[in-house]
Amino acid sequence: MDTFEALYTTRAMRRVKPDPIPEDVIKRMLDAAIRAPSPGNAQQWRFVAVTNPEVRSGLAALYERSWAQLQSTVYAGVRERAAAAGDSTTERVLSSGDWLAANFAQVPLVVLAFVRNDPDGSGIYPAVWNLMLAARAQGVGTTLTTVLHHFAAAEVAELLGVPTDKGWKNMAAITCGYPLGTWGVATRPPVETVVYADTWGQAPPWSVPDPLWSY
Ligand SMILES: Cc1cc2nc3c(=O)[nH]c(=O)nc-3n(C[C@H](O)[C@H](O)[C@H](O)COP(=O)(O)O)c2cc1C
Repeated sequence: MDTFEALYTTRAMRRVKPDPIPEDVIKRMLDAAIRAPSPGNAQQWRFVAVTNPEVRSGLAALYERSWAQLQSTVYAGVRERAAAAGDSTTERVLSSGDWLAANFAQVPLVVLAFVRNDPDGSGIYPAVWNLMLAARAQGVGTTLTTVLHHFAAAEVAELLGVPTDKGWKNMAAITCGYPLGTWGVATRPPVETVVYADTWGQAPPWSVPDPLWSY
């Protein structure tokens, strides 16, 4: 697959089929993940690739509860405001988030990424994104999720048997599966609306009205 196709079309793919992902495909995702940069090249990461149905259902119960907690705290009022404003983008994200929360147990693979000796944990995200791009290149849809570690970190650690005294911190649970829908280019406001030239606030001398890669 063309690199730019992967970059432009790796979307949050929450609605996936229960079909298992072959081991070869999973291996390629994880082997690509560990090619990523890390702070000081220390590679202080671990990945737990969960396919076992019992562990998945344990995670699913925690995810559903965490998603509900997100709605009643950080996202309180967001749904109502989006409906009132006719903000269909936000409504779509929330409804696909609801689908994932309700169907988490049927997602065939969840990869949980852990990091340590990294003050804010951000050093894991290049590896997470590598994994998601490698999944996309093989036709597997992914979603980077974080609600589990925000609302259920201790329970996730217990479920997975993560040692409590070694400093491992979960930073992401990536849901993976073959898409129920179709791939598309991520819609975003034009790039010049978020880029400045040389100094803050100065518009760049160019504009990009349409994505520079499309089908
Ligand atoms: C740091 C981070 C945390 C996220 N956490 C969640 C999450 O917990 N649950 C979820 O359904 N999506 C989560 N997402 C996915 C975003 O909602 C998604 O990337 C965004 O809506 C853009 O989607 P698109 O690329 O398909 O347009 C997260 C994304 C990022 C980057």
